[in-house]
Amino acid sequence: MNNKTVIVTGGSKGIGESCVRLFHEHDANVAIFDVDSEAGKKLSDDLGERCVFIQCDVADGASVRHAIAAVIGHFGSIDVLINNAGIVSYASVTESTEEDWDNTIGVNLKGPFLCSKYAVPVMLQTGKGVVINVSSVQAYITQERVAAYTTSKTALLGLTRSIAVDYAPNIRCVAVCPGTIDTPMLHEAIKLSSDPRTVLKECDDMHLTGKIGRSDDVAELIYYLASDKASFITGQAFRIDGGLGIVIGGSQRD
Ligand SMILES: NC(=O)c1ccc[n+]([C@@H]2O[C@H](COP(=O)([O-])OP(=O)(O)OC[C@H]3O[C@@H](n4cnc5c(N)ncnc54)[C@H](O)[C@@H]3O)[C@@H](O)[C@H]2O)c1
Repeated sequence: MNNKTVIVTGGSKGIGESCVRLFHEHDANVAIFDVDSEAGKKLSDDLGERCVFIQCDVADGASVRHAIAAVIGHFGSIDVLINNAGIVSYASVTESTEEDWDNTIGVNLKGPFLCSKYAVPVMLQTGKGVVINVSSVQAYITQERVAAYTTSKTALLGLTRSIAVDYAPNIRCVAVCPGTIDTPMLHEAIKLSSDPRTVLKECDDMHLTGKIGRSDDVAELIYYLASDKASFITGQAFRIDGGLGIVIGGSQRD
């Protein structure tokens, strides 16, 4: 990633932070787009040169335009866009307010659209680029009361294919679909339960690997997919989910 410029949305924490650290370690210039300026600035100060924090709400077009211009001002080009920022809301269709629905779809789906809309033309100036969309295993299987989240992550696979088709052969676009990953998002979610430790144990047990994933696991996959080693991969989604949801009942074991 020497001299390449990488944008990581939602890069202040969790999977995004792991991506920021990994790409930076591999000599990339890294721009963090996040609404959490405290954590983002701390991370960019920690990494020092070749890392910049840019305050950005990915669901807001003006904010994204400003952030992309700031990256060009800082590093001069864009090679990789990692659309990772995401939020989750817990509601069925009948429980969800219009505002909740719009917020979730806004960050998780409109965000990747806006960031791609403004980053892809910059990539095309150098003739080449990669967009990675962080979807979820919930694009394939789902749980109760996450209607907007599941919808956004499923639609993100459609956006992935559209970008791959519309900008081939110059731009590759790939999605990654994590299972349960140990991040602040997960810990915020399990805090909603009266017994978070039991929920965490259930999360471990529902993966064939017997454990949830680490944000570094996801960052490693994203790094590979963004690299030239993955130059024959585009338009696809990759599950990184510890085998979550592939088991059916009817075991013949004792
Ligand atoms: N943790 C999991 O189990 C899991 C599983 C599957 C998919 N994912 C997806 O991975 C991605 C990262 O999740 P995470 O677990 O690291 O989450 P996280 O909550 O730990 O971190 C998300 C980051 O996104 C930022 N963010 C939120 N709204 C934003 C906005 N409007 N604009 C810019 N930044 C914003 C937050 O400030 C935060 O820094 C998300 O898209 C999430 O849906 C997570």
